[in-house]
Amino acid sequence: MTGLCNGRVVVVTGAGRGLGRAHALAFAAEGAKVVVNDLGVGLDGTGAGAGPAQQVVDEITASGGEAVAHGGDIATADGAASLVATALDAFGRLDTLVNNAGFLRDRMLVNLGEDDWDAVMRVHLKGHFLPLRHAAAYWRAEAKAGREPVARVINTSSGAGLLGSVGQGNYAAAKAGIVGLTLVASAEMGRYGVQVNAIAPAARTRMTEQTFAETMAAPSGGGFDAMAPENVSPLVVWLGSAASACVTGRVFEAEAGRITVMEGWRPGPTADKGARWTPTEAGETTLKLLAAAEPPHPVYGTH
Ligand SMILES: NC(=O)c1ccc[n+]([C@@H]2O[C@H](COP(=O)([O-])OP(=O)(O)OC[C@H]3O[C@@H](n4cnc5c(N)ncnc54)[C@H](O)[C@@H]3O)[C@@H](O)[C@H]2O)c1
Repeated sequence: MTGLCNGRVVVVTGAGRGLGRAHALAFAAEGAKVVVNDLGVGLDGTGAGAGPAQQVVDEITASGGEAVAHGGDIATADGAASLVATALDAFGRLDTLVNNAGFLRDRMLVNLGEDDWDAVMRVHLKGHFLPLRHAAAYWRAEAKAGREPVARVINTSSGAGLLGSVGQGNYAAAKAGIVGLTLVASAEMGRYGVQVNAIAPAARTRMTEQTFAETMAAPSGGGFDAMAPENVSPLVVWLGSAASACVTGRVFEAEAGRITVMEGWRPGPTADKGARWTPTEAGETTLKLLAAAEPPHPVYGTH
């Protein structure tokens, strides 16, 4: 099998279902050897099972590709360490890490319990940090040994993290944190040949099919199935390939047939008194600056 990722070794977390599964299959179709991680949990992160990861491995091997399953929890030090070790043991190297695993515990803030906050922050934010941390240590060691990596990391944020989303305070905070982590990792790891980007996807998976059933439905008469998760994967595969040289520290929205470069926080209208404002002056000046500023995009769920 030859393709854009021929010979590369790719780890995809949460690849037993939904977007991660689509990414794993798409990488394999482009010649990558894939470590398919999935803990096999329910939609709220409870339970566990080896089934989903192994099914995707079976699909890849049935089409002539190479893949191994990893059933660990990527938000634990052991799970993240063994994830990277699985790539090295099975295929001798690691080139691309796709951080994708996660789940939801949606509640309005007044009802959001500490457990639901911790669980969602843990799986998304720590579940990105730990695999990244272990992969980064491997790539730095490779670079120091004179084997300059052509390494790629694709993190998974969300429109909720970029714009906010009603009923998802825990998830939006974690996904915004992933953008910050992406920027730092990109800046720190560039010297070792590692590029780090993030996507904010939208697709029909079990995570969205109840909330967005109508807008995400497959077309009944055939045609382009816009919200199929497979539509997000081509950008992820390209970002995970050697072909995406010099693209790092960026955030992309990807859904249906659309790819959008998200332009992040940057200074807008500004005023400098050269001395300390009084609160009244600060307020008057701030109102003038706001009048000259771009209005923010609406928070998801408010329109
Ligand atoms: N579907 C969308 O429209 C959408 C939009 C924005 C962001 N996302 C993000 O995309 C990613 C994939 O979501 P999806 O829609 O495919 O959901 P999904 O539920 O279909 O898939 C997520 C997978 O992650 C696995 N998982 C959960 N916790 C894990 C852990 N600790 N260790 C290993 N595996 C674990 C689950 O078992 C599941 O198979 C998530 O990070 C999600 O937040 C999805």
